[in-house]
Amino acid sequence: MKVTFTPRAVEKADVLILPVAKGADLEKVAAKLPKEALKQVQNAANAAEFKGSKGQSVELLAPAGMEVKRLVLLGLGEADKLNEKEVEYAGGRAAAVAMAAKAKDVAVIINVPESAELDEAAFAARFASGMKLRNYRFDRYKTKKAENGENGDNNGNGRERDEKTRIETLTVVTTAAEEAEAAFAPLSALADSVHFARDLVNEPGNVLTPKEFARRVVEMAQEVGLEVDVLKPKQLREERFNALLAVGQGSKNKPRVVVLTYNGAGDDSAPIAFVGKGVCFDSGGISIKPSSGMEDMKGDMGGAAAVVGVMRALAARKAKVNAVGIIGLVENMPDGGAQRPGDIVISRSGQSIAVLNTDAEGRLVLADCLDYVKEKFNPARMIDLATLTGAIIISLGKEHAGLFSNNDDLAEEITKAGLETGERVWRLPLDEAYDKLIDYDIADMKNIGGREAGSITAAQFLQRFVGDVPWAHLDVAGTAMASPKTDINDSWGSGWGVRILNRLVEMAEKG
Ligand code: BES
Ligand code: MN
Ligand code: ZN
Repeated sequence: MKVTFTPRAVEKADVLILPVAKGADLEKVAAKLPKEALKQVQNAANAAEFKGSKGQSVELLAPAGMEVKRLVLLGLGEADKLNEKEVEYAGGRAAAVAMAAKAKDVAVIINVPESAELDEAAFAARFASGMKLRNYRFDRYKTKKAENGENGDNNGNGRERDEKTRIETLTVVTTAAEEAEAAFAPLSALADSVHFARDLVNEPGNVLTPKEFARRVVEMAQEVGLEVDVLKPKQLREERFNALLAVGQGSKNKPRVVVLTYNGAGDDSAPIAFVGKGVCFDSGGISIKPSSGMEDMKGDMGGAAAVVGVMRALAARKAKVNAVGIIGLVENMPDGGAQRPGDIVISRSGQSIAVLNTDAEGRLVLADCLDYVKEKFNPARMIDLATLTGAIIISLGKEHAGLFSNNDDLAEEITKAGLETGERVWRLPLDEAYDKLIDYDIADMKNIGGREAGSITAAQFLQRFVGDVPWAHLDVAGTAMASPKTDINDSWGSGWGVRILNRLVEMAEKG
């Protein structure tokens, strides 16, 4: 989507959007329209009893005196509640309306209500960012694509096409065009990174093997200027990634570990480390999963997708931070070489693990990655993201990711970043009493607790590999994939994590 900011009125668009705060004066909001069109807008608003409430919208076709097919009044809700997140989400709703109308060229006239938190430029940039985030669809494997403007075509089989189109150009009319453009640049980079993560999550397992995932990350790294290192099986053996290798040993598609580094701080300060679970497909292994819903396990690499997404964003927006991202890419399959329930592996850290359930594989992958990044990079903080447990969906549903941390400050910052971006987290406890539940008689630990507190025992397992580094674990099983549609996302793969982590870095940049 090509985005331009301009102070000049637009004459032509498939869809023209007017964001309207609750109770705002339409004459002011629509001041840039021809007189006849303004009258039509007022009439339509009256007829629809449009008040500018959040979620309310009015559409009118072919307003007079301009080359616009469809004009949309988009309710923003209470003006004094319009913060970054709300404006971004409103932009998402605007894109949804335009996409439903199969619009290619879209324009929006910005008119910031006085009591909004944001100034004109910030408002315009945020609104455009929300539109860009929503303007995504994964249609690589649709061989019959909808044409723009083909509203209501029935495909010759009596069924209406349900394919949506993408917005191609967006013109944002604002009095602060130059500042808005500057403010939009990092947000645009961030949205591209969210889309990059969504693509990875949406890709099927036959395409996105560990090798292919690594290849795409290398390609991306070269594009945005990240340092990248791919560890193949031979190096993984040399580096003693035994627990990770054990997970991958039942598949023809061999593991990879990818390390991305970004030095933007301009000094050699300790980096923030992001660690991602990248199980490209999780069949469960010998402890095989039931077949119903197993297809969703192509998304068991959502943590890794978020990690590479945020690293991409940091480089693309030239963040002033040192960061490292590491992802453990494996396929958990049950062939004749697969690990067995009861196997004991010596993890990279030297601690032994009895693998009582091969479906609790994510923690084995993360254990070695956490240990590696801790030893090689001496990070100031470590944050891992993983689609780790089904139990987190039982606890929190899909509205919050589970947050676990050994550090209250870090936990608080992450919680705040979540509220500010809409990627919300909820903290759950860690405690010695839970830790005991993974002790085992003939090894240092087992890879499952009991039926109770499944997400917590998984987090306790991870904690055994982080030492005293300030660390947080985000269980994103409910949020990275198949999560509820939001104003800024209606894709199966949500890209969850890229924006909250980017915000966390922003908070550190500001000091
Ligand atoms: N990848 C799954 C967790 C998962 C479940 C993610 C549903 C997304 C949606 C993970 O590897 C897993 O299988 N966990 C087991 C752990 C159990 C064996 C202790 C689970 O949640 O059942
Ligand atoms: Mn599993
Ligand atoms: Zn898994």
